[in-house]
Amino acid sequence: MSKKLFIETLGCAMNVRDTEHMIAELSIKKDYELTETLEEADLIIINTCSVREKPVAKLFSEIGVFNKKKKEGAKIGVAGCTASHLGEEIIKRAPSVDFVLGARNVSKITEVVEKKHAVEVSTDYDESTYAFGEYRTNSFKAMVNISIGCDKACTFCIVPATRGDEISIPSDLLVQEITKAVNNGAKEVMLLGQNVNNYGRRFGAAEEKIDFTGLLQKISAIDGLERIRFTSPHPLHMDDAFLDEFASNPKICKQIHVPLQSGSTQLLKAMKRGYTKEWFLNRCEKIRTLCPEAAISTDIIVGFPGESDADFEDTMEVLEKVRFEQLFSFKYSPRPHTEAAEYGNQVSDEVASVRLTRLQKRHTEILDEVMDAQVGKVHKVYFDELKPGNRVAGRSDDGKLVFVEGSEELLGQIVDVKITKASRGALDGVVLNQS
Ligand code: 5AD
Ligand code: SF4
Repeated sequence: MSKKLFIETLGCAMNVRDTEHMIAELSIKKDYELTETLEEADLIIINTCSVREKPVAKLFSEIGVFNKKKKEGAKIGVAGCTASHLGEEIIKRAPSVDFVLGARNVSKITEVVEKKHAVEVSTDYDESTYAFGEYRTNSFKAMVNISIGCDKACTFCIVPATRGDEISIPSDLLVQEITKAVNNGAKEVMLLGQNVNNYGRRFGAAEEKIDFTGLLQKISAIDGLERIRFTSPHPLHMDDAFLDEFASNPKICKQIHVPLQSGSTQLLKAMKRGYTKEWFLNRCEKIRTLCPEAAISTDIIVGFPGESDADFEDTMEVLEKVRFEQLFSFKYSPRPHTEAAEYGNQVSDEVASVRLTRLQKRHTEILDEVMDAQVGKVHKVYFDELKPGNRVAGRSDDGKLVFVEGSEELLGQIVDVKITKASRGALDGVVLNQS
């Protein structure tokens, strides 16, 4: 009888994909079967995030809860970014943890489950060409890592310390992986990396000369693949060739994440982001000119050390000018192994909270206007999920969540939908035709 595996995933899309890789390895090589019931699991894995402080604190309370609920003899493993940066300390603080597996060491999952107190957290490990087994949570949309690690040194960010240097995955391997996913029913691929448009900067053993634009062109040639998304690109590497490809390639979905972090050139410098407010605005204007229908989303940090009222006003100005559709906004959280944590001029929590509330309030107003303006429009929606009450959910080309009345037949179809109702998080519509 197969053993049962329970995995909790925190954090970004790369962690979600790492979870799929662990499930694949454990089910194919060790006969584990996924369960959603913690109490029946033989193996419990917490795949962690460490980008802000909160999830780290949550990890230790969660280990305590899981330890009480788990069945006799069940193992607990901690994987992901917090595993990378705390390593052995996790077992010292929580001896009930059986193994610790870093975000850069996921391919070793079948080894560490067999050892007591194994700690595999090397950030130099190169698993960029490791042939993971196949497992996908959603057969209609495939997530594919195109690079591992991050070569930037943004002063607020712990990721380079947890995921190591950036290594691109050879393009032929990517084409093989995507072709396989397409043959298994995926019409859409989501290309993943900490810094996707830096693709091709460095390979492991392979010798290849290709950049992200070249990769997009190569992937677009895959028969049966209809939609390409990617996250996250870096504003610094958004050159003209890339934006032209984004706008003109019909397979590339017109949704782009352009992480601002701050609108103040001075703060961007202190963050070591490598671009100015003007460059950022110029790139967004170019996107709007080439591709007016594109949805632009962003990440913003408020309360970064030294952020003055004037710096924050710069951020508000960029919000006003670009009118981001989606905003992921955070209060600055000092992280270990980062330069900014050592800066002296930390902003008080009260000031950061006031700024965050103002930013989010204004963004909500913009979002409501954007969503209300969708009523009456026609979107091409790719349906991938059945919902209760005869409803089916999918995403428009520009990434909006759309619901219609319907059943299984819509799953896996890309269909014209007329929008009839808008709310902040989603749109309702009616199907116009079915291809
Ligand atoms: N504090 C707050 N937000 C952070 N992010 C990364 N590091 C920190 C930090 N120390 C945010 C950035 C990044 C997103 C994934 O998380 O906005 O783009
Ligand atoms: Fe962190 Fe900057 Fe790398 Fe993004 S680009 S993962 S923010 S260091």
